[in-house]
Amino acid sequence: MSDISLALTNCARAVEEKLDELLPTILTPEGEVVEAMRYSALGGGKRLRPFLVMETAKLFDVDKAYALQVAAALEMVHCYSLVHDDLPAMDDSDLRRGRVTVHKKWDDATAILAGDGLLTEAFAVLSDQATHSDMAVRLKLISGLAIASGAKGMVGGQMIDLSPSRSSLDLEGITRLQALKTGALIRYACEAGAILGNAKAEEYEALSLYAEDIGLAFQIVDDLLDHEATPEETGKPTGVDSDAGKATFVGQLGLENARAKANELIDSAKSRLDIFAGKAQLLRDTATFIVERRS
Ligand code: IPE
Ligand code: IPE
Ligand code: MG
Ligand code: MG
Ligand code: MG
Repeated sequence: MSDISLALTNCARAVEEKLDELLPTILTPEGEVVEAMRYSALGGGKRLRPFLVMETAKLFDVDKAYALQVAAALEMVHCYSLVHDDLPAMDDSDLRRGRVTVHKKWDDATAILAGDGLLTEAFAVLSDQATHSDMAVRLKLISGLAIASGAKGMVGGQMIDLSPSRSSLDLEGITRLQALKTGALIRYACEAGAILGNAKAEEYEALSLYAEDIGLAFQIVDDLLDHEATPEETGKPTGVDSDAGKATFVGQLGLENARAKANELIDSAKSRLDIFAGKAQLLRDTATFIVERRS
């Protein structure tokens, strides 16, 4: 196994354990929503965002226990976004991470509530002392995630993605859509390490730029995999974006040019990390992983 695959696998295991601990089963009548939250958050996913939190935090020698709290909180928000994204009112998808989606296993109402539960629990985790001893750091982490998740970030991107005008977006419009929909949480993942580590302004800036490049590349590859991969590989339905009239880089540029664009972004991302020299090697390898992945 390559260094990056092994590192991702180890991180996924640690995050899984943390999420299991943060989302304990409860036996009172509302316990069903917790079961749906656990179903969404446990057992699958690449855990790329948590990995970025852990690796960027490592650049600043941040306490691993702190980084893991932030990684788990961010993954909760990501999982919530997937549960809602799959709802009939949005992408209407039956398969996620190789399993039936939450609204199929339960129902739409439970899926909405499970998403709400994961989103709000994430902020409870960030505000906990276990996330950082310094309240000012916790506050920065909270406001960063709130902005990245909301109408100025992921939710805003989802709105554009679902709006009737999406099919007429030009390249600039699609870039903005992707930067919000997918880019914002990936950017937060990288900035969180810098926040936890009280990074210098130029280090924070370098990580933000790296994150912008990999975030865009990540969504281009997601769109490419919708055309090129199988549901067995991705764990979700494929060939659905063009049927749904989604505005994607693939639709705009074609498969070959979209792949070239993703590769270009990955080269750019790596060059953003020069100031960290050898310490950022796994982050460079993560950029390569993002374009080479099949799931
Ligand atoms: C899927 O994200 C949704 C997008 C933003 C493209 P991931 O590809 O990271 O999904 P998991 O977490 O590995 O399942
Ligand atoms: C969803 O994008 C991004 C989110 C914010 C959840 P997609 O709709 O392309 O994600 P997949 O392909 O269903 O994972
Ligand atoms: Mg979607
Ligand atoms: Mg979707
Ligand atoms: Mg997709």
